[in-house]
Amino acid sequence: MTDIQFHDLHSSRDEFSNDVIAGLSQRPATIPPKYFYDTRGSRLFDAITELPEYYPTRTEIGILTDNAAEIARHIGTGSLLVEPGGGSCAKIRILLEGLHPKAYVPMDISRDHLRVAAQELAVAYPWLEIHASCTDYSREMRLPPSAPNGTRVAFFPGSSIGNFDPAHAIDFLTAIAELVGPAGYLLIGVDLKKESSILQAAYDDAAGVTARFNLNLLTRINRELGSNFDLGGWQHKAFYDATQGRIEMHLMSRYGQRVTLNHRDYLFAEGETIHTENSYKYTTDEFIALAAQAGFQPQALWCDDEQLFSVHLLRVQTNSPEDSPNHNAAIP
Ligand code: AVJ
Repeated sequence: MTDIQFHDLHSSRDEFSNDVIAGLSQRPATIPPKYFYDTRGSRLFDAITELPEYYPTRTEIGILTDNAAEIARHIGTGSLLVEPGGGSCAKIRILLEGLHPKAYVPMDISRDHLRVAAQELAVAYPWLEIHASCTDYSREMRLPPSAPNGTRVAFFPGSSIGNFDPAHAIDFLTAIAELVGPAGYLLIGVDLKKESSILQAAYDDAAGVTARFNLNLLTRINRELGSNFDLGGWQHKAFYDATQGRIEMHLMSRYGQRVTLNHRDYLFAEGETIHTENSYKYTTDEFIALAAQAGFQPQALWCDDEQLFSVHLLRVQTNSPEDSPNHNAAIP
């Protein structure tokens, strides 16, 4: 039997329009990276994950695959597994056999993608309850009313946490801590700080796929909001800022130009940029300290041999010791 519940809390086109207008009105201009993921953007992101330079996806999959049994031993079976941004229902498959959760709640902004992926997952795992929730997790995170009880486990892979600046990352982790509750878990993938040449290549690949991904944002804004961005007038820029510990992606204006959106003009000088993404990188100690500010205690940590990527298992702090049997677990 397949068991899918579909909940649609997704926000409107007005929100996209408001965010873009606000972002283009400020200097430096900024557009939130969540808008990369229209149909073509999601396809381009999938292509990025296959690039030789883009190590995070394959490295994280390797870490999860190699340690799936140990992860399951920490968490135990019968949990309620929640994945903010889990619209593709893909990486979770690595954990499902071993973890054998009672229910899986993927939350994603991309409605059709989520629906199709949840249906495919239901066919592959007929024993699993799936409660798919179409929602923008950066705005609100709550469980659909149909979700059953059980130890709550949030899964947030892919170093998506890197899109938040550290203060907002703490806010987001705090919201996750509230979602999973006392003694609840968070299993999270975090990209590690490393030599800047490796980072830079990962965000400015030789084949130009990341450039197309970045520029697609303007194509999407033209199509959905009726603007007139000249696609030939913008160039992909990506660089690592070691001081801030982040990759920055920008679209740089190749010449002075005017863009019209919603009966208003926005002027861009030659070399001026629209900041489209930050991707923060953390050492394991930095991330543990960050998560502690949201009330999480480290439970376990896994990395690849080359120290490219980390997967942390964290648990919401409780005051009673019997709720945290692993509170003395050693952190390597
Ligand atoms: C999906 C936010 C984790 O920061 O590596 C990949 C997005 N941007 N290449 C990342 C992205 C350009 C990706 N995250």
